[in-house]
This record gives sequence, C-alpha cells and structure tokens, in this order.
Amino acid sequence: MTWLKIIHILCVMGWMTSIFAVPRALIYWKRDFAKTGEFGPLGDLTYRLYRFSAGLAVIAAITGLWLGVLWGFPAWLHAKIALVVLLAAHYVWTGVLVGRAKRGEFRESDLFLRIFNEISVVGTIAILWLVVAKPF
Ligand code: HEM
Repeated sequence: MTWLKIIHILCVMGWMTSIFAVPRALIYWKRDFAKTGEFGPLGDLTYRLYRFSAGLAVIAAITGLWLGVLWGFPAWLHAKIALVVLLAAHYVWTGVLVGRAKRGEFRESDLFLRIFNEISVVGTIAILWLVVAKPF
C-alpha cells in the first residue's frame, strides 16, 4: 500500500504540473508565435510537457483505482473519481488547444486561458479535500 501510494502521488504530481502549466504556457506561446510566426522552443516544450504527462495521468489513474480496490470504493472515493473525470476532461480540452496551437491557431483570449487555468486549481483543491478529509 505504501509504495503504491507513493507511485500514485508521484504520478499525480507530474500530471498536475502539466495541468497547471500548459494553459498558462499557451498564453506565452501565442505571444511568441505572433512575433516569430514559427513553432519555436516554447511551443516545443509545451507540447512535450503535455505529451509526457499523459502517460503519468494513466499511471495515476491505474494506481488510484488499485488503491480504490484496497479501500473497497467508499463514498468519498466515488465523489473523488467523478471530480477526476472532470479534471481529465479539462486535460483533454487542453490537448485540443495544444493541437490547434501546433497548427498556428490560437483562438482563445488570454483571459479565457487564465480562467480555464484557475478552474483546474479549484477542482484539484476539491479532490485533495475529499481524499484527505474523507468526509463521508
Ligand atoms: C482515477 C483516479 C484516482 C483514484 C481512483 C484515486 C484513488 C485514491 C485512493 C483510494 C487513495 C488512498 C487514500 C488513502 O490511503 O488515504 C488515494 C490517495 C491519494 N490521491 Fe488519489 N486517486 C485518483 C486520482 C487522484 C488525483 C487526480 C489526485 C490529485 C489531484 C489524487 C491525489 C491523491 C493524494 C494526495 C493521495 C494521498 C492522500 C493521503 O494519503 O492522505 N488522486 N487516491
């Protein structure tokens, strides 16, 4: 259980790095692209960060579900999984934006990307509260 949880938390941390950083990086990528008209190092880093974290997200989900089996899927875990599904949808949406950015399409405003970024922070706090407080 200890090592399973350590791997779970490690992969969650890696996935979260991308969830928090990529929408913000898109703002700077957009500015960079407006100046140079090219897919530069910032775009490359953003794309690679997103792609790398997808694997970590899968391991985080597998280890989380495994922990869930050991815990017998209590009620708080159902709520946690529902919020993780929403967070995963947010991540997939981020992937759509990254895919468009790679083609030189930046449709979203800076304000939209900032708000989009903050939503994931609120969701993550709710998930952490559920898993730490286990309120029901
Ligand atoms: C399908 C996805 C997930 C499932 C099924 C899942 C399930 C679980 C389970 C059953 C535990 C063990 C709880 C304990 O031993 O106290 C756990 C621990 C933990 N999970 Fe997840 N989890 C998932 C995704 C996530 C995500 C996305 C985050 C962060 C936003 C996260 C953060 C944590 C943390 C910080 C712990 C350690 C809590 C503690 O030891 O007090 N998990 N998870």
